[in-house]
Amino acid sequence: MPTLRNIIDGLTVQGNDSENWIELVRDLSEPILQQPSDIQFSKRWAEDKDILTIAALEGFVKEIDFMAQALEEGDICLLLEHGDKICAFAWVTFRDYRLDLWHTLHLLPGYAYLVYIFVRPEFQRKGVGYYLLCSIMGHLKEMGCEYLISGMFASWKISIGLHRKAGFRINKKFIKRRFLRFLPYPPKKVTIDS
Ligand SMILES: CC(C)(COP(=O)(O)OP(=O)(O)OC[C@H]1O[C@@H](n2cnc3c(N)ncnc32)[C@H](O)[C@@H]1OP(=O)(O)O)[C@@H](O)C(=O)NCCC(=O)NCCS
Repeated sequence: MPTLRNIIDGLTVQGNDSENWIELVRDLSEPILQQPSDIQFSKRWAEDKDILTIAALEGFVKEIDFMAQALEEGDICLLLEHGDKICAFAWVTFRDYRLDLWHTLHLLPGYAYLVYIFVRPEFQRKGVGYYLLCSIMGHLKEMGCEYLISGMFASWKISIGLHRKAGFRINKKFIKRRFLRFLPYPPKKVTIDS
């Protein structure tokens, strides 16, 4: 006899890859290839004075106050500068991170989460994202961190390519669902072994 859950599941529709979320993980004990970049960058950690620039680059997805508070509470953000210009950044948190209404990523000790990585369009496709991702993984490893988690929509092929190149493996998939086509419903979580 079908359970109530079976019946409800039967009345849900699943999202496509532009709505489905994947979670990737990088074991930082595995080798990290840190090739020098062809472009001369200086690296430094972001401070309060950089937040407006970072927020503008990411399209003001998060409010300035939220980002300032996050840095105060221990988040880190590695910047690549060319001249005086911030060309790329990678933001990492060590605290639980709310991804949406249904999904909060709980971080165990030794885990970090890559909130966002960004390379200015004029510097893209030149190995900068890979250099930055490997750089921040190296720093995290030195800090004693064991795993770096990252997440993105399953349709973001460019970002998936970058992460796979840097040694990430897909760990989980969260399949978006809607009850009776329009009511939000918790995603179906699928664990992926490879
Ligand atoms: C994703 C992003 C950071 C990649 O930075 P980048 O400096 O262009 O990446 P790299 O040149 O180091 O490329 C590394 C890998 O990423 C993938 N990649 C990068 N650009 C790509 C493109 N235009 N098409 C297909 N794959 C691409 C490839 O796998 C590439 O490896 P390869 O050069 O051996 O083919 C950059 O495109 C970006 O800032 N995008 C907007 C923000 C974003 O989507 N961030 C990710 C959030 S999770």
